[in-house]
Amino acid sequence: MNDHGDTGGRRAARPGGPRRQLRPTDVKRLNRAWRRETHGRLALIVESVTGPFNVGSIFRTAAAFGVDRIWLAGNTVGPANPKVQKTALGCDRFVRYEEGVTPRDAVRAAREDGYRVVAVELTGDAVPLHEADLAGDVCLVVGGEDHGCSPALLEAVDAVCYIPQTGRVGSLNVAVAAAIALAEARRREWAALPGPVPGRA
Ligand SMILES: C[S@@+](CC[C@H](N)C(=O)[O-])C[C@H]1O[C@@H](n2cnc3c(N)ncnc32)[C@H](O)[C@@H]1O
Repeated sequence: MNDHGDTGGRRAARPGGPRRQLRPTDVKRLNRAWRRETHGRLALIVESVTGPFNVGSIFRTAAAFGVDRIWLAGNTVGPANPKVQKTALGCDRFVRYEEGVTPRDAVRAAREDGYRVVAVELTGDAVPLHEADLAGDVCLVVGGEDHGCSPALLEAVDAVCYIPQTGRVGSLNVAVAAAIALAEARRREWAALPGPVPGRA
């Protein structure tokens, strides 16, 4: 390397050796470090999501972000469906869930368990996700592929937020919308953490 930091086409040796993916044990350690710093409880109400791959994907994301409870409301397909397992990959064993509840009963149960219930939906009064109040214990709600959240459910929730889109599409896939909203809820708490980033020596 010359004085200008130019390596003449060769890569400078990285201080910690070549960049590689973490091994599974290191990922577990990293997850544990973030878990220790994460205190807000998250839950989900999934209303009438009938695509098994979507439900499986929602379970995997929920497990990854430490969601405590999922209410499968309306006619949402349950994890017993083998197609759900193609994307859930067994993650349903990490999340407590209830099937076959009405949307109103799901909202009531979430409130009784101490959650503020926030629908993720495109409604006239919804606030953009990045401005939504997601502090404390939050239960997010997503709706079905065809009809979205039902009017009854939207009446029952405490607030509604939407994910701004800039492309010429009407909406996101429901599993993607759930993932974005869950990630944002966690990001808020993590961004406010004092001290070093968890998992860094
Ligand atoms: C495919 S969308 C529902 C379809 C939509 N209602 C329609 O008329 O085509 C399924 C669910 O994903 C969530 N969703 C998708 N895109 C969203 C966005 N941009 N903001 C908020 N929620 C969204 C909502 O929960 C919605 O009920």
